Amino acid sequence: MSTLVTGIAELVTNDGTVGDGPLGLVADAAVVVEDGVVAWVGPAHAAPDADARIDVGGRAVIPGFVDSHAHLVFSGDRAAEFEARMSGERYDGGGIASTVAATRAASDETLRARLRALVTEMRAQGTTTVEVKSGYGLTVEDEARALRLAAEITPETTFLGAHVVPAEYSGRVDDYIGLVTGPMLAACAPHARWIDVFCEPASAHAFDGDAARAVLEAGRAAGLELRVHANQLSAGPGVRLAVELGAASADHCTHLTDADVDALAGGSTVATLLPGVEFSTRSPYPDARGLLAAGVTVALATDCNPGSCFTSSMAFCVALAVREMAMTPAEALWAATAGGAAALRRSDVGHLRPGARAHLAVLDAPSYRHLAYRPGVPLARTLELPATEALSRP
Ligand code: NIG
Ligand code: FE
Repeated sequence: MSTLVTGIAELVTNDGTVGDGPLGLVADAAVVVEDGVVAWVGPAHAAPDADARIDVGGRAVIPGFVDSHAHLVFSGDRAAEFEARMSGERYDGGGIASTVAATRAASDETLRARLRALVTEMRAQGTTTVEVKSGYGLTVEDEARALRLAAEITPETTFLGAHVVPAEYSGRVDDYIGLVTGPMLAACAPHARWIDVFCEPASAHAFDGDAARAVLEAGRAAGLELRVHANQLSAGPGVRLAVELGAASADHCTHLTDADVDALAGGSTVATLLPGVEFSTRSPYPDARGLLAAGVTVALATDCNPGSCFTSSMAFCVALAVREMAMTPAEALWAATAGGAAALRRSDVGHLRPGARAHLAVLDAPSYRHLAYRPGVPLARTLELPATEALSRP
């Protein structure tokens, strides 16, 4: 089965050998998809024939967004916490406990329905790959359950048993790390690709560098790949630990020293920026320009979660990156697509050269620039093609 997509005013391929500039732009373009894979891209006048046709009517087409950081398995609501923050309360991760209580009390069906609703919401806004973390169960059973549910909708599942120290382990961090690196990891590793830890010595609830190292090393020994919640609230050890251990991504990067930037520039760890968090916690934004100037690979993701940032919109994050972090519209779009793919070590998504998964998003606009130019307007949606699956599979 092949489908010819025509009427593309501007195609973003993210491949400079296929089109112009780093975004690989092709004007008046067409794409041929065959069995869920991009088979051909180029100018419309040179397009081959196909079994079916879709005309997008003079719109821009981009690679589907790759949202490489999300917490979608939870129950409950923290709108009141958000409201208090907007009146001056600080975010310190303490509210995570209330989501843990609500999540433990919820049935599988309740959690599954919420997870699926959020993924549907993302897909409707142009996100075609999403990473999903555990981290609101914090018992062996509840963490394994979260990952089993997440694995129903994405291969990018992340074990975050070391999100915070749960109330029943208060004052016994070492015992909790023993649980996370022992029986909890054993129960969760079969359902996870990644392991993550909230490394934040400035939070009374999260983990210091030594605990984070123990979690990451145990995860790696169990066959998981690494990603780290790093330097969100302070310039702690998370980023340098992530680089030292070869993590795929250091996420947040809100408070960086020069040594952190140098470490990222000298390693292969992607800096994943989550500007929706700074927006929703009224915090200073990360120094995206400094990272880009140092040659660091930058990704953008939503961090969709009920506490620090409850947006599912990658387009909103692109607009924030442009307005608040002075990324160019092209840098921001690249970071939200190819950057996210790099942060997930995926070569089959985040671009649209032949061989890519046919994850296309269409914009109700003639150019990708409108994503930041028209903030808050729901321009992006996933292009539904015949015979393609719902979300990325490996
Ligand atoms: O990435 N910082 C740690 N974890 C999440 C927030 C989780 C929550 O507040 O519920 C984050 O910001
Ligand atoms: Fe997060």
